[in-house]
Amino acid sequence: MTQKMMSDTHFEIVFVTAAEVLPLRDRVLRADRPAGASELRCDRNANTLHLGAVVGNELVGVGTIAMEDPPGVGIGDAWRLCGMAVLAGWRGQGIGKALAEKCIDHAKLATGRIVWCSARESAFEFYRRIGFVLVGDLFTRPETIGERYARMECHLADEVNH
Ligand SMILES: CC(C)(COP(=O)(O)OP(=O)(O)OC[C@H]1O[C@@H](n2cnc3c(N)ncnc32)[C@H](O)[C@@H]1OP(=O)(O)O)[C@@H](O)C(=O)NCCC(=O)NCCS
Repeated sequence: MTQKMMSDTHFEIVFVTAAEVLPLRDRVLRADRPAGASELRCDRNANTLHLGAVVGNELVGVGTIAMEDPPGVGIGDAWRLCGMAVLAGWRGQGIGKALAEKCIDHAKLATGRIVWCSARESAFEFYRRIGFVLVGDLFTRPETIGERYARMECHLADEVNH
């Protein structure tokens, strides 16, 4: 973990590497799967940004943003917010929102037009509150039985509801 970006009364948002993100992301998003199961193809792309939330020396949350079009859609300047994960004991304190907002700022600086994500149904409200809207049908994934997802998008030209 290198450079601090912002700090709150109890946590800081810092730049992290793909390797640093993976253990926490695995633990939160793929708890019943082997190590590395949450790795994404975009993780090591040069313009992918990984951020962490730290309390003291402990990494308590992570988020990633990568330049990637939604499946089957050729937008060109779309960014994907992915791997959003906050440890259970640290949720509901603004950490996820801070991570997502800093990721979205990165897409804005890169003149992205849209940020999208494959949102878990249980996280729809989180994404709604930070300015995303549902755009796709519900779908499932073989690796996360019981979870339903949908694509959500945030148009960067619109006012984000911070
Ligand atoms: C989704 C997640 C990243 C949110 O992180 P967090 O730190 O708890 O979120 P925040 O505290 O920043 O919440 C921001 C806002 O969203 C709301 N919110 C967060 N999670 C919510 C949920 N599951 N249901 C309803 N509202 C939620 C908060 O109340 C808050 O609202 P406010 O701004 O009006 O006060 C976290 O709950 C998590 O890691 N969940 C498990 C993994 C997961 O589902 N990741 C997303 C995969 S698509």
